[in-house]
Amino acid sequence: MTRHVKLARPIFKKKDFEFIEEKMHKILESGWLTSGRYVEELEKGFTKLVGTRHAIATTNATSALHAMMASLDPSREDEVVVPANTFASTANAALYVGARPVLADCDAESFNVSAETIAPQITEKTRAVIVTHIGGNPCEMDPIVSLCKSRGLVLIEDSAHATGSRYRGKPCGSFSLGSAFSMYPNKIITSAEGGVICTDSDQLDRFSRTFRNVGRVNFGDGPIVMLGYNYRMSDVHAAIGLSQLRHVEGFVNSRNRLAEKYTRMLEETEWLEPQKVSTHSYSSYYAYIVKLSAKAPISRDKLAVALKAKGIGTTVIYTPLNQQPYFARFSRRTISMPNAEAIGSRSLALPLHPGMTADDVSYVVKAIRSVAPK
Ligand SMILES: Cc1ncc(COP(=O)(O)O)c(C=O)c1O
Repeated sequence: MTRHVKLARPIFKKKDFEFIEEKMHKILESGWLTSGRYVEELEKGFTKLVGTRHAIATTNATSALHAMMASLDPSREDEVVVPANTFASTANAALYVGARPVLADCDAESFNVSAETIAPQITEKTRAVIVTHIGGNPCEMDPIVSLCKSRGLVLIEDSAHATGSRYRGKPCGSFSLGSAFSMYPNKIITSAEGGVICTDSDQLDRFSRTFRNVGRVNFGDGPIVMLGYNYRMSDVHAAIGLSQLRHVEGFVNSRNRLAEKYTRMLEETEWLEPQKVSTHSYSSYYAYIVKLSAKAPISRDKLAVALKAKGIGTTVIYTPLNQQPYFARFSRRTISMPNAEAIGSRSLALPLHPGMTADDVSYVVKAIRSVAPK
């Protein structure tokens, strides 16, 4: 019988069902189903996890990024440097508010943007930089923070993958004006759909709370003071998120143990290069990404198909934005993105989630070896 090893899946244990059920009763009995005490508890939990003064829950990380970009009130002339190797939401955040995303290549080993890849994209029009901690691997933040400070640029972190990640011991999401976390079901923790903004800025905190509430200050008949959106998280979602928040450390530790096993077992497979996490970083290991060398005995796409036939789920993180039909128009023609393009065509994310066993990892690695020996 074929074993099935899913790429990702959310984990809920019996105690989590009890926890959620109890809260669901309270929510439904109270008659107050939208943002209430559980959203507040979730926000408090994120301030503790990330170490920021404020956390603001939203409908998802996409809306969290939108809120942060809107708070900058950019003009049509403003440019925002974003990674080529990221999800659409990172660049869309700039587009939603009329600014222009400018793509930066990533480092060939960490798969993240770096000060070296961001710097050439900065012009006199650059207003902000958004970095994405790809697969949970922390970007090299010290030089990025220095670069943004020295050029007077706002720094934002897309921390959608980076719940529980740390750079030099400090949580990802605490290095910038504001950061966006995702609680989509395949992320480190989930609330079904959900996002959180973390920030030390009182101004961004106030702005985001009003922005997510259709521009209205507080509930009831508070004044409408800006163009806002309905980006509120409900207590129903927050209750699920709270049950997961208790497990961040455990989930991330399990992911790291499984990732270590992958790395050990793949050492002798010379044509596969795992994403490099630096020794001063702790990745959430949202994803275990491997890049096939140019001399690999099988193509990435054929490998993915062969693994699928053995019940193994994989995905690509990511086809770079400059190669996506919609975003191609925003890449500067004179600058290519060779590293992001190599990742887009030659990398694969292997299954990784806390519900997997060490045996599942062995099964995946043996499957890789069987379809393309050393
Ligand atoms: C890097 C990155 N940023 C933002 C998002 C958007 O997250 P959400 O689905 O919570 O809007 C995702 C979703 O996968 C992502 O991978």
